[in-house]
Amino acid sequence: MKIIQLVCVFYLLLVSNAFSSDIDAGNERYHKNCHNCHGPAGMGVASYPKVAGLESNYIIDRLNRYRSGEKIGSNSGLMISMARKLSDREIEILAAYLSSIN
Ligand code: HEC
Repeated sequence: MKIIQLVCVFYLLLVSNAFSSDIDAGNERYHKNCHNCHGPAGMGVASYPKVAGLESNYIIDRLNRYRSGEKIGSNSGLMISMARKLSDREIEILAAYLSSIN
């Protein structure tokens, strides 16, 4: 019984650790260039939409669609050229970071 509890605790620690390092990595990636348009805290600037606090699945979906060249809004061209350079891993950490702030 004790062993099972220990394994569970260990597993939870592992998962939450992995999660918080995704957020840190996403934070770093976001501040490389995304903040130029979406603002330092992802709150949006002028015609650049707010990206902080969106659902992580929504962000992943949007970034994948922009990456594949899909036009979503009237200014998609800007975002398509940004998303083209993103790897799956970068999309994952950016979504973890942006969904964690608001
Ligand atoms: C050159 C300015 C610019 C940069 C840099 C930029 N974006 Fe965007 N982003 C936009 C614009 C403009 C839109 C709205 C596009 C449209 O009309 O479809 C957008 C839309 C988005 C959306 C969808 C928002 C929604 O509500 O649907 C997400 C998510 C996003 N950007 C994330 C990012 C991330 C992550 C980065 C960094 C890799 C980034 N953006 C870099 C201009 C930019």
